[in-house]
Amino acid sequence: MTAALERQIAEAADLVTVALDALLPRAEGPEQRLTEAMRYAALGPGKRLRPFFALETGKMFDLPERPVLRAACALECIHAYSLVHDDLPCMDDDDMRRGRPTVHIEYDEATAVLVGDALQSAAFEIMAHPDTHPDGAVRAELVRRLATASGALGMAGGQMIDILGVRDDLGGVARMQRLKTGALIAYAFEIPLIMAHAKDAERHALMAFAQDLGLAYQIVDDVLDAEGDPETLGKAAGGKDAARGKANYVTLLGLDAAKERVELLADQTRAHLDGFGERAAVLRGSVDIVLGRRN
Ligand code: IPE
Ligand code: IPE
Ligand code: MG
Ligand code: MG
Ligand code: MG
Repeated sequence: MTAALERQIAEAADLVTVALDALLPRAEGPEQRLTEAMRYAALGPGKRLRPFFALETGKMFDLPERPVLRAACALECIHAYSLVHDDLPCMDDDDMRRGRPTVHIEYDEATAVLVGDALQSAAFEIMAHPDTHPDGAVRAELVRRLATASGALGMAGGQMIDILGVRDDLGGVARMQRLKTGALIAYAFEIPLIMAHAKDAERHALMAFAQDLGLAYQIVDDVLDAEGDPETLGKAAGGKDAARGKANYVTLLGLDAAKERVELLADQTRAHLDGFGERAAVLRGSVDIVLGRRN
């Protein structure tokens, strides 16, 4: 089961990379530097977990693949932009991402800022295109929710709290994690929920699943920062978060307690899927793989 699931996740990643390659702009003039850097950022070897969640949930609701794939690519553009800006010297100041130099190292800072800007615009252009969904009202809702998930009350807001290093209490840290990481992960599940006009009960269950998964995912990321192998991770580790005064579960509670929290959250996360029965077998199975990641 695990090997089959891992293969399925890898196949989804390939599908998304090919689709993204076709969707991202190309240019001929001097602005080619920007389109090439956008491709460098977005087409690098990411895990594509958010698109995987969108595609799998789409299957649960018997949705056609193409609209979900396009929307998932738009989400991946936002995610790629968030990483490019997250790595900037004024943010986390990181030199490695996905096993390669970060965009501001490979190109320069101004290009990295513009890559983030333009990937964000590309995301909304893809999402709003009629090919993403024939119903304009569905497209408008997809766009509105993506804006919320990535904006001041979502990812960008969470990044603000992260940069401020507010370390009052665990509740505050959990809130930051839900915003900076959970919001975009939750949006992956919103794509099919919106397209399928899902019932409230299904929406609530999947959103609760996504919230817990998103929090656990970021705690795992923080554990890997403390004890992961930079070679395998493809990005800096060695306690960089602690050295930079970041407030997270590891720096506040210690490694062992943070790992226990992930275990508890994993059980809680899976439980939200009980009502879906066998329909959610792949999602249920993917929780351990996603949280057991080493990269
Ligand atoms: C990294 O995200 C940043 C976090 C929100 C933890 P991923 O772990 O999904 O990174 P990629 O896309 O696979 O590189
Ligand atoms: C990233 O959190 C969250 C984003 C919204 C990009 P981190 O700063 O911990 O992610 P990594 O470790 O650099 O991938
Ligand atoms: Mg960061
Ligand atoms: Mg970072
Ligand atoms: Mg991290």
